[in-house]
Amino acid sequence: MPQLIDGKKISTEIKDELKEKVSRLKEEGKTVCLAVIQVGKDPASTIYVNNKKKACAYVGIESLSYELPEETTEEALVSLVEELNGNEKVNGILVQLPLPKHIDADVIIRTISPDKDVDGFHPESVGRLCIGEPGFVSCTPAGIIQLLKRSGIEIAGKECVVMGRSNIVGKPMSILLLRENGTVTITHSRTENLREVTRRADILVVAIGKAKFVTRDFVKDGAVVIDVGMHRNAENKLCGDVDFEDVKDKVSAITPVPGGVGPMTIAMLMYNCVTAAEK
Ligand code: GUN
Repeated sequence: MPQLIDGKKISTEIKDELKEKVSRLKEEGKTVCLAVIQVGKDPASTIYVNNKKKACAYVGIESLSYELPEETTEEALVSLVEELNGNEKVNGILVQLPLPKHIDADVIIRTISPDKDVDGFHPESVGRLCIGEPGFVSCTPAGIIQLLKRSGIEIAGKECVVMGRSNIVGKPMSILLLRENGTVTITHSRTENLREVTRRADILVVAIGKAKFVTRDFVKDGAVVIDVGMHRNAENKLCGDVDFEDVKDKVSAITPVPGGVGPMTIAMLMYNCVTAAEK
C-alpha cells in the first residue's frame, strides 16, 4: 500500500494553527471577517458555501452570508462587492462560482479588491503569483503544496507534471511547483503522447475533470499522485480523476478521494482570510 496523503488530517492541523492565530489577533483587538456571496441555489454550491461557513466558525472567523436570488443583476452584484470592498470590518470577499449565465464572472472577480481577494482569482493576484510577489494564491493549488510539504515530499529538482490548464488549478499549480524549484510540464487536451509525458512525473497532479481517467499506464513506478477530481460514480460513490485501485500498488504516495485535496481548499481559504486580516 502506498503512503496515503491525509488531507483531512493536514487540513485540521492548518485550521488548528489558524485558530490559535485568530485568538491572538483577537487579543490585539483585531477580528477576522469573510463575506460569502452565493447567487442562486445550485445545490453543489450550497454545500461548498456551508462547508466554508462551518470552517470559519471552527477557526473563529466571522462569516457574513449573502444569499442572493438567481435573478440578481450583474450591476446589483457589482454594487454589493463595491460596498464590501469599502467595509473596513470585512477582510475577505468570496463570490461562489459558478454564477448564473447572465452575470459575467470575470467582471465580478475584477471588482473584488485585490486586498480582499481570498480566492486568489483577481488578475492582480495571478500576476503577483507569476512574478513572485506576495499576494493571494488560489486555494486548491496552495493546499496541494501544503499537502506535499507536510507529507515530507521534496519538490525541488523533481519532474512535476500537471494535467489540466484551468485558471483556478492547473495554471497556478504549475507556477507554485516552479516556485518550489520543480521542473514543470503542463499537459492538456491537445498534448501528444500524453502517457509518455505523464510517465516522466515524479509528482503528477491531475486536474482534468474526468472520472478515473488516469490508470496505471499513466504513472511511473514510485510516483507521487495528487488527485484534484471529484465525481460521483454509478453507485453514487465519490471518486477522483485517478483510478485509485488501478494505480495504488504502483505509486509511492497518493491522495484519496474524498479526504485528499478537497479539505485543503477550505483550509487555505481560511489561511488567506487570516493573512488578509493581518495586513
Ligand atoms: N466554485 C468551485 N470552487 C470554488 C472556489 O474555490 N471558489 C469560488 N469562489 N467558487 C468556487
